[in-house]
Amino acid sequence: MLQTDQVLELGCGTGSTALVLAPCVGAYLGTDLSDEMIAIAREKNAAEGIAHLRFDTFDLGAHQMDQQFDAILAFNLLHLVPDLNAALRRIDHMLKPGGVFISKTICYSSDWRGIALRAIMAVVPILRAFGKAPYAKITTIPDLHSRIDALGYEVLEQGNHPASPPRRYIVARKPV
Ligand SMILES: C[S@@+](CC[C@H](N)C(=O)[O-])C[C@H]1O[C@@H](n2cnc3c(N)ncnc32)[C@H](O)[C@@H]1O
Repeated sequence: MLQTDQVLELGCGTGSTALVLAPCVGAYLGTDLSDEMIAIAREKNAAEGIAHLRFDTFDLGAHQMDQQFDAILAFNLLHLVPDLNAALRRIDHMLKPGGVFISKTICYSSDWRGIALRAIMAVVPILRAFGKAPYAKITTIPDLHSRIDALGYEVLEQGNHPASPPRRYIVARKPV
């Protein structure tokens, strides 16, 4: 990212990543579905005083902004969005041509940790029925890549950090 970049972070939580990255870019908007998360993030930035860092409530599952950004970040978010393709289309709408989408998302693997994760996820709908868990749907690394490829994006960097169950790290550039 460049010192002049306008950056949007989706699902920023309490703003920990935003507070670290914002000093490196031109303007940074941290967003989250949760008013409570945003209130904490604002409090944290009131102590830090980073003038070009703002926090706002925003639901990627329902809305898109007409403003376009040089970079859009989504860390540990995409598995929480009910319609992943629709969310990716919204991200595409909010990203400038040539801009980068940087994501880290938990995915299934075929080792024992992946199998254990599938077993845990099988219980989530039951917990949800009792209001004890948020929506979550984990996919595989090939499926996640195929959805990003479908947008015509070029993958610049990829990796699994940590390796298992993989948190798939992807840096993908939108075509100009
Ligand atoms: C697992 S936390 C990750 C927080 C932070 N990005 C991190 O990596 O530490 C997921 C965050 O995404 C937010 N979130 C969930 N669904 C969302 C949605 N549809 N739109 C925006 N944020 C959402 C949650 O409120 C939560 O703060």
